[in-house]
Amino acid sequence: MLEESSSKDLNFNLNWKRKFSKETIQGGFNFNTNWHAVVQKNLDPIFDKFSIKKILEIGSFEGQSTCYFSEKLTQGQIHCLDTWKGDDDLREKNIDFKIIEKNFDKNIKLANEINPNVNFFKYKSESYKQLSKFIAEGKENFFDLIYIDGAHDSQNVLFDAVSSFKLVKEGGVVIFDDYLWESKDKNIINSPKFAIDSFVNIFSNKIYIIRHFLYQLYIIKKSN
Ligand SMILES: C[S@@+](CC[C@H](N)C(=O)[O-])C[C@H]1O[C@@H](n2cnc3c(N)ncnc32)[C@H](O)[C@@H]1O
Repeated sequence: MLEESSSKDLNFNLNWKRKFSKETIQGGFNFNTNWHAVVQKNLDPIFDKFSIKKILEIGSFEGQSTCYFSEKLTQGQIHCLDTWKGDDDLREKNIDFKIIEKNFDKNIKLANEINPNVNFFKYKSESYKQLSKFIAEGKENFFDLIYIDGAHDSQNVLFDAVSSFKLVKEGGVVIFDDYLWESKDKNIINSPKFAIDSFVNIFSNKIYIIRHFLYQLYIIKKSN
């Protein structure tokens, strides 16, 4: 369904503009980018080692990561959260988010036909609002895996990280995408790493870090 690629392709994450040309269709799915293919082989062992049924994805875009998760689950739920409006970095690239959201809907429909044992939930919202709602609804310790790939500025990433810590179950996994991604202005406030490092330090007695693929950071929640 999705292309395999090696870690030597990492640079394309910083240089993806060239890749975002015209709509490409992979195995019936509509994807404009190849972002997620880079990280898939690093995610595979997580699904081999952990029992994962309930996934929350912050930042779904066209659903490439969502479709990968759907392929990995025998059964379960994938909760997809996105504004479908981009952030400053994506907005600069003149992406038509109406098309992106339409592609997401189509891709998820197809993923669901391929794996009907997975239920998809779509939330069109800024992450801080929906994550707060989840907490208010009692979804603390609910998810087996949370994939954080929404806003890339440290203020939003910090909120996503702390909320995800509450929402993931003990023994569950939180994955930060783009740990080493840098904003164009190189200001650490505008990239995820500063927030992720702060979160990891402050919660160091309650989490393990999995030494793995460093472009992403994988943590396990040890205790509440
Ligand atoms: C890099 S893309 C996600 C890619 C996707 N995970 C994949 O691998 O196919 C980031 C997404 O986060 C969304 N986003 C940005 N800021 C957000 C926020 N504050 N709340 C929710 N979604 C946000 C954008 O609209 C965009 O679709």
